[in-house]
Order: sequence, then structure tokens, then C-alpha cells
Amino acid sequence: MTPRAVDLHCHLLPGVDDGPQWMEESVEYAREAVARGTGTIVATPHVEQVDVRTIGDRVTEVQRALDEEGIDLRVVPGGELKPASIGDLDAEELELLAHGPPDARWLLYEVPFSGVDDAFLDGAHELRSRGYGLLLAHPERSRGFLEQGAALLEPLVAAGALFAVNVGPLTGHEKVERTQAARHLAETGMVHLVATDAHPPRRPYQLADAEPWVDRSAFTVVPQRVLDDGVGA
Ligand SMILES: [Fe+2]
Repeated sequence: MTPRAVDLHCHLLPGVDDGPQWMEESVEYAREAVARGTGTIVATPHVEQVDVRTIGDRVTEVQRALDEEGIDLRVVPGGELKPASIGDLDAEELELLAHGPPDARWLLYEVPFSGVDDAFLDGAHELRSRGYGLLLAHPERSRGFLEQGAALLEPLVAAGALFAVNVGPLTGHEKVERTQAARHLAETGMVHLVATDAHPPRRPYQLADAEPWVDRSAFTVVPQRVLDDGVGA
């Protein structure tokens, strides 16, 4: 059986951030995701825009709505971190956002649009020192990635962090330099996995859209393994 796709980065929760405003929008996106082969979505709101302690209940609410509609999708709580959010979160809250087995927990950490800077690298070291591996969200969207960002991130990758490249840049739906960066990563075998970073109803990307650019394993078996087996801290 073909493995179903797993999306580790998706703004699926309604009414929390710049994702869907209404439950109906979440449900419609989920319906399409399932039709296109997705089986699991980690709901990753911007953590600075939500009380982290409410994410579990919000996910339960979405799951209930999907179950009522007969939409066969598993929704898992998560969150997308920025450097500025880290200091505000205690150990219990970080755990609510994390995934993986006890010895390989990981967090989704957003590479800044403005470029890799000291605040980002300091935040990465803090998360690592607090015991987490890093899933680096959309490095290809970070300004100057090919010129200097990739080299600045290299030590994190060497230490086990993974690049989670977005569907949009890969498929040519964003600025040309982001597409060039995403495709360069694809050509050099550095797309560790693909995520949608969908914000339905805007940017309603689906994992299957990435199929011309990467092997299906980048959005099926690899993210499933990340969820189940973790990322090295
Ligand atoms: Fe995101």
C-alpha cells in the first residue's frame, strides 16, 4: 500500500493566527488534503499568536469536526516557533509543541524571512540545550539563503537538524529566489522533507503538489519517521 502523506507544518487551526478564520475553512482544506493523499497533519499555529495550553483542545475540536464529516485525517498538536517566542515558554509548554520519542524530541523552528541572524542561531542553541532537535521551517524562504544562510545553518544540519522545505517555493508559487533556493536544495539532496505551510483558504498547498520536484518519500515516509522516531537533539 502506498504510504499516506504526513504534513509536519500546516496552519490548520481556525481562528488563531493567519490561517483559516472559520472551522468550515479548516474542514474544506482537510477534505482536499485527504483527497490528495494526506493522512496526518500536524497543526502548527504561530505560537506567539496563541495560548500554547489551548492548542490540544483546539486540535480536538478540529478532529471532531473532521470525524463528523467522515474525513479520514489525523490531526496532531504542534506549533511554529520564532526566536522571540522561546524565552516566554516554560518546559511544559515546549513539550506541548514537541514530537518524537523521549530521547529524540523535536520542535518546528522558523528560519527568519529577513535572513539567518544571531537571534535565530542563539534560539537554535537554546532549544538544543533544552534537549530538542530542530526541524528548520522553510530555509529557502530566508533572504540570502544561497549566498550565506545555507553556510550559517550547516552546523545545525551537521548536528542533526532537518530542512523542512515548503511546497510553494518548490512549485514556483513564490519569489523567484525562493524557488531557486528550494530547487537547489532538491537538486543537491538537501530537501530532508517537504511540508505545506498551508494557510487555508489562502496558500492552500498540498503535499502532492511537490511530486514533480522531490521523491514522494520526502512527504510520506520521512516525515512519518520524524514523527515516530524523532530528530537528534
Ligand atoms: Fe508556518
